[in-house]
Amino acid sequence: MKLSLTLLAAAAALTPCLADQTWPSSIDELEDIMFLTAGYRKRTFTDSVIPCEKSPNTAGRINAAEWIRTAFHDMATADTYNGIGGLDASLQFEIGRSENVGPAFETTFIFLQAFLSVRSSISDLLALSMYTAVRACGGPIVPIRTGRIDATESGATGVPVPENPTQTFVAQFARMGFNTSEMIELTACGHTIGGVHAAQFPLIVPVGTAKNEYALFDDATQAQSKFDHGVARDYVLGNTTNPMVVGIAKANGRDSDGRVFGVDKNVTIKALANPVVFHDRCKVVLQQMIDVVPPTVKLTEPIQPYEIKPVNPQLTLVAPGTTLSFTGEIRVRTTVRAADKISSVKLVYKNRDGEAGGSITTTSVGAASGFDDSFTFYKFAASIDSTKSISSFTVEVAVADGTTETHDNNGKGYPVEDSVILQSPQSCLEIFTDTDNNRVLTIVAAKRTAVTGTPAVDLASLKARTGGLVVPMLTHSSLPMTAGKSYGPYTFYSVTTKIGSTLSLRATFDVTLGTAKDVFKRTSNLPDGCVPFGSDTSTSMAPPTTTQQSSTTVSPPTSTSTTTPPQSSGWASLGCYTDSTSSRTLPVIASPAGGSAALTNALCQSTCKSLGYVLAGTEYSGECYCGNYISSTGKPATSGCDMACHGDAAQKCGGSDRLSLFGFGGAKAAVAPVPQSKKTVEGGYKYQGCYVDSRDARVLSGAELADDALTLKKCAFFCKDAGFKVFGVEYGRECWCGAALGAATKVGEEQCNQACGGDATEACGQGDRLSVYVK
Ligand code: HEM
Ligand SMILES: *[C@@H]1O[C@H](CO)[C@@H](O)[C@H](O)[C@H]1NC(C)=O
Ligand SMILES: *[C@@H]1O[C@H](CO)[C@@H](O)[C@H](O)[C@H]1NC(C)=O
Ligand SMILES: *[C@@H]1O[C@H](CO)[C@@H](O)[C@H](O)[C@H]1NC(C)=O
Repeated sequence: MKLSLTLLAAAAALTPCLADQTWPSSIDELEDIMFLTAGYRKRTFTDSVIPCEKSPNTAGRINAAEWIRTAFHDMATADTYNGIGGLDASLQFEIGRSENVGPAFETTFIFLQAFLSVRSSISDLLALSMYTAVRACGGPIVPIRTGRIDATESGATGVPVPENPTQTFVAQFARMGFNTSEMIELTACGHTIGGVHAAQFPLIVPVGTAKNEYALFDDATQAQSKFDHGVARDYVLGNTTNPMVVGIAKANGRDSDGRVFGVDKNVTIKALANPVVFHDRCKVVLQQMIDVVPPTVKLTEPIQPYEIKPVNPQLTLVAPGTTLSFTGEIRVRTTVRAADKISSVKLVYKNRDGEAGGSITTTSVGAASGFDDSFTFYKFAASIDSTKSISSFTVEVAVADGTTETHDNNGKGYPVEDSVILQSPQSCLEIFTDTDNNRVLTIVAAKRTAVTGTPAVDLASLKARTGGLVVPMLTHSSLPMTAGKSYGPYTFYSVTTKIGSTLSLRATFDVTLGTAKDVFKRTSNLPDGCVPFGSDTSTSMAPPTTTQQSSTTVSPPTSTSTTTPPQSSGWASLGCYTDSTSSRTLPVIASPAGGSAALTNALCQSTCKSLGYVLAGTEYSGECYCGNYISSTGKPATSGCDMACHGDAAQKCGGSDRLSLFGFGGAKAAVAPVPQSKKTVEGGYKYQGCYVDSRDARVLSGAELADDALTLKKCAFFCKDAGFKVFGVEYGRECWCGAALGAATKVGEEQCNQACGGDATEACGQGDRLSVYVK
C-alpha cells in the first residue's frame, strides 16, 4: 500500500494544471458527485466503498468488488464490430440471466439509481462507481469521461463464464475491443479485489471450505482485498490461492483465470507482477473498459475539478419589480490555494448591456473535501436594479500575500441568464396528495417583457418501473406556460401540473425561452406552498415561523396582503450593536444595488427586505448585513456608531466593529431560538431521539435526499412515498429513510441541534447525528 500511495503522489504531481472547464457544462452534476465526498454539500457516493472492504450489511460481500464486476458485466456484451452496446446500463434489464448470477448487480443498481438525473445517466454513474471503487481500494485514478446514454431494454448475451473454452474468451474479449494481452490485464485488474462465492459457484469454491463462503482472489491475510498486484505476483510465484486458478476449479474446467493468464505463455501476467506496471496498465485498461460505447455516444473530456464553480446561482424578481435578488455560492478549490490564505472572494458583474455593474461580497459558509481535493464555499446575496440587470460575472480571489486572482470562465465570464428566471417563492410542490396519488406542481417564471417568445418548462421526472426493475425511468415533458401580470421589466408566466407523488421530490426542471434557460432546478428545493408576488414573505429565505417559540422570538412581518409597503417604511432603529469579523452579529453580508458608495440605512434596509430578512445593519460607512436573528456575541454598544454613510453624510452607518441595527415590522434583536425536534410529524411519524450516524455504518440507508430547503415534513413525505417507516434528518439538509431503526446509539438531545435548512425552528440532526422519527 505504501508503494501505491507514493505512485499516486507522483501521478498527481505530473498532472498538468489544466484550465477550468467552461461553466456551465454537462459534467457539472457528476463533478459534484465525484469530488464532494465529505463536509459541506457532500454527496454520499463514496460512503458505500470506504473503507474498501465495506460490505452491504452481509458478511462475505464487498461493495467495491461488486461495483467493478457490475461495470464489467454491463460492458461485456458489447459488439464493437457492429457498434452495438457497451457501457449502457442495459444490465439492469439482464439481471435474471445465468451469466449474471448473484445479488451484486441488483444491489449496485439500487445504489446508483439514487443519483440518477438528467445530468447523470446510470451508465455514467456506473463508470464513476468503477472509478470510486478503485480509488477507495488504493488503485489508480481512472479518467472519467461522460455522456453515456442508457439503454431502454436488454441487449445481447455474451458475458464470459468460467466454463468457456480459452479460445472463446479470446473471441469474446476481441468482440469487446480487447486483444489478448489486454484481456489478461483487464481480468487481473478486475480480479484483484473480491472473490468467488460458494453459493453461486460451488464448482469453483466447495460449500463449507471458505470463510463466509467467499474465497478471495488473493491473500486475505495481508489485507489484499485491496487493489494491488498480488493476484499477478502470486500466480507467477506459484503460491496463488486464487480459486479460479487452483483447487477444484481446475478439475471442473472452471479455472478461467489460470487459462486466461497463461494464454500468452505468461508474458503479460509476468509483467503485471511488477506493482508499477500493474498500476499503470490497470489505469489504461479500466478506462478502456468504461469507454466502450456505441459510435453514437460522444464522450466528453475527462472530468476535472473546477477551480471556481458557481453553486445554484439564482436571480429572483422582488416586489414591486424594481430589483432582482441574486443569491448563490461560489465554490473555490482550496487544494492549491489554502483556504486560510484566502482573504476575500468577490464577484464583479456586468449589467445586461455589458457595462460594469458592481461587485458582490461573499462570506465563507463551509468546506468540503474529496479523495484529492478540498473546497471552500462562499455565499453571496445581492440586490440588483432590475432594469440594468446582470449578464455575467468574474470571480476575484484575494490571497493573503496581497495578490488577486481573477477567474473569468475562459474569457467568457460566468453567464447569468436574466431573460427567463424561475420565481421560486411563487412556485411550489404541494405536499398534499390527491386520491390518485398525485401532487400539484406549480412553476412560475419571470420573462423580460422586451424579449419575444413564450417560456416553457422542461420537466424531467422519475417514474418507478414495474416487473422488479430497480432503476426508475426518466421521463421528459415540455409544459407550455401561460402569461400573467407584468412587474417592472418582467412578465410572469405559470404552469400547473400533476406529478406522481412517489419520486416527486426527485424531479428536476428547466425554465426555457428558446435557447435561454434557467436550468436544473430541483422540485425538492421548492416550498410546499406558493406565495403570491408582493407578500412580505415572498422570497426564498422567508423568516422562520414563530408559533412555539420563547419570548425572545422575533416576530416576522405579518402578511397575507399582496401589497408591498413602500421601501424602508416599517423599519425601526434597534440601536448600536457590537460586531466582529470572527463572529458576525448578522449572518448575511449583502451587496445592495449601487454598491458601498451609495450605502444609506434605507438602502441596506430595502436590500435586506428584498432578500427576505427582517433585520438590517450598516457598518463602517459602506457595509450592509442582514439576518433574522443576531448571534449571541452581538451586544448593545453605548458608543461607536458614529461613521457617516457613504451615500448620505447626514446619516450614521455604524462604525468600526459597530452595527447600526434596524428591525422590520416590529422585529427585535433576538438570538435565534434553539431548533427543536417535534413530537410528531405529518404522516404519522413520532420522534425517537438523537442517534449517532457515520458514513462507515449508516443507520438508515433505504433512500436519501439532499435538500438545502429541508424540513421535517418534506423528509417525512419523501420517505413515506418511498415506502419507509423510518426517517432521519442530518446535518441540516440530509434526509435518510429506512425500514427499521436497528441497533443505533442514542445520544443527548443537545447533539441534534442544527436547524433544518428550510425551517430554522426545527432540528435536523447535526454532522454524524440523526434526528430519527418512526411510524
Ligand atoms: C474471463 C473473464 C472472466 C470470468 C470468466 C470471470 C468470472 C468471475 C466469477 C465466476 C466471479 C465470482 C463471482 C461471485 O462469486 O460473486 C468473478 C468475480 C469478480 N469479477 Fe470476474 N470474470 C472475468 C473477468 C473479469 C473482468 C474483466 C473484471 C473487471 C475488470 C472482473 C471483475 C470481477 C470482480 C471485481 C469480481 C469480484 C466480485 C465479488 O467479490 O463480489 N471479472 N468473476
Ligand atoms: C494489444 O494492443 C496493445 C495496444 O495497442 C499493444 O501494445 C499490444 O502489443 C497488443 N497485444 C497483442 C497481443 O496484440
Ligand atoms: C506468495 O509469496 C509472496 C512472496 O513471498 C508473498 O508475499 C505472498 O503473500 C504469498 N502469497 C500467498 C497466497 O501465500
Ligand atoms: C505460467 O505460470 C503458471 C503458474 O506459475 C505455470 O503453472 C505455467 O507452467 C506457466 N506457463 C508457462 C508457459 O510458463
